[in-house]
Amino acid sequence: MKSIIDSHCHVMREYFGDEQKEVIERAFAEGVVQMVNPACSLTDIGEVLTLAERYPGIYAAVGIHPHEAKHWQSDSESILLRAAENSKVVAIGECGLDFFYNHSEAAQQKEVFAIHVKMAVALKMPIIVHCRDAWDECLDILEEHGQGQVRGVFHCFTGGPEILPRIKKLDFYVSFSGILTFKKSAAIQEAAPLVAENRILVETDCPYLAPQKVRGKRNEPSFVWHTLDKLAELRATSAESTAKSCVDNARELFALPVLN
Ligand code: NI
Repeated sequence: MKSIIDSHCHVMREYFGDEQKEVIERAFAEGVVQMVNPACSLTDIGEVLTLAERYPGIYAAVGIHPHEAKHWQSDSESILLRAAENSKVVAIGECGLDFFYNHSEAAQQKEVFAIHVKMAVALKMPIIVHCRDAWDECLDILEEHGQGQVRGVFHCFTGGPEILPRIKKLDFYVSFSGILTFKKSAAIQEAAPLVAENRILVETDCPYLAPQKVRGKRNEPSFVWHTLDKLAELRATSAESTAKSCVDNARELFALPVLN
């Protein structure tokens, strides 16, 4: 059977309510063998750990989303560090900068992101980066605090080919979401074939950003196949080989075991 890994989803009760179990089981039934379900806030941590403990194929990441940077407190770092000790936590994140929505002040976003990068370096864990309209600042912080010391992924990649040289220098992974399938995503589609085969990942970032073919629906991990198909098409290769690369790469980055 075909297999894929959703490298970034939010299968939280907040979004799926009573259908949460059904959505998760549908993902497994449709070949999504593993998924990474990152926390966006301290409030999320309890549930991401519970889900990771309940389902062998679900992994957690812990971090504070840039939208939530304004809620950073003196004890936030120690709470994240404690959560990161859980063996199902495979990364620090999601964290980063979002200067499109600016739900938190830019200076505070930068400060909180830098703390995450330093944490990932100290814990030798990969980092999941959310970057929206903040490429220079995001890359500056990663280079300053993590160059050569931290591995990670730019999740839900929304940049164009011009961003790739700096990402390559950091040796980061690039994860494509449903945005890749949208008609208006010319720059992202242009970047997609330029990323090295051993650095590509796919994700849903559900519940938002459902791929073109199911656009308007609530997104869920089983829809990751649409993005995979588009990625394979843009890279002029088969869906099978692209899926295999995405699975291998996710396992490599997040040190995921091969489940039977
Ligand atoms: Ni996300």
